[in-house]
Amino acid sequence: MSARAQRRVIIAQDAQALAETAAARLLARIEQTPHPAMICLTGGTTPKKLYQLLATSPWRERIPWPRVHWFFGDDRFVPQDDELSNSGMARRTFLDACAPPQNVHAIRTDVETPDEAARLYELELHAFHPMPLDSAPLFDLVLLGVGSDGHVASLFPNTEAAAETRRWAVGIEHAGLAPFVPRVSLTLPVLCAAREVLFLVSGKSKREIVARVFGGDDLPATRAHATQGETVWLLDRAAAPPDLKET
Ligand code: 6PG
Repeated sequence: MSARAQRRVIIAQDAQALAETAAARLLARIEQTPHPAMICLTGGTTPKKLYQLLATSPWRERIPWPRVHWFFGDDRFVPQDDELSNSGMARRTFLDACAPPQNVHAIRTDVETPDEAARLYELELHAFHPMPLDSAPLFDLVLLGVGSDGHVASLFPNTEAAAETRRWAVGIEHAGLAPFVPRVSLTLPVLCAAREVLFLVSGKSKREIVARVFGGDDLPATRAHATQGETVWLLDRAAAPPDLKET
C-alpha cells in the first residue's frame, strides 16, 4: 500500500481544536500502551498549544507521567535556555512541571558538534530499543510538523540527511529554512518506526505545502509515514486545501 493510501486526515475547526484533538490522541496512545510509552515530540511553533494543554487540567491529571518517556525528533544546536531550543520550549511549557526528569530525553547540545550529539542520541535510543527498527516500532507516537518547503524534523528536501537510511540521528550544519542554526535530527527510518505518526499542521501558510504532499511530490513530509502503524494528518481548517477531505 502506498504511503498516500495509508494516510488518515482529520480536520479540526481551528488551532485550539487541533491541540485538543492531538491531546486526546496522545492520551489514547499512552493508554493503549501496556509498557512505558515512548513519545517523540516535535519542535516549531505549532505544538506549543498542545504542550500547554498537557500541563493543564484535565490532561495533566490523566497522563500517567511516570510511565511516559519523551524524546525529540529534532533540535536546534543551541543551549536549552535559548529561545530557539525545541526541548527548551517543551520543558518550559510542560515537561519541567509534569514529567519525571529521568523520563525526558533531550538531544544534547552541550557537546562539540551536531554530529557528536547525533551519535550520542542514537546510542540513547539504542538503549531503549536494542533491535532493528523493522522488528518492532521504536516509538508509540511521533509528532511531526511540516515546513513550508516540505521538511519534517530537520530533514530538508534534497539533502543527504533526508535520504539517510542507516544512521538513526544526524547532525545538520546548514538548515534549509529559518532559523538558520545547525540542527540534530532523527532520520526518516526512525521517525517512521512508530505505532502512530501524527502531523500537526496549522494556518493558511501551510495550505500550499499540504497540497503538494497530498499531490504526491517527493518531499520528506510525503515520505514520513508510520511503517508499522497509522499515519494521521491533523490539520486545522485554515491549513487544509479546499479539496482535502477527512478520511
Ligand atoms: C523545527 C522543527 C520543524 C517544524 C516545522 C514546522 O525544529 O523547526 O521540528 O520540523 O516542525 O518547521 O514548524 P512550525 O510549527 O513552526 O510551522
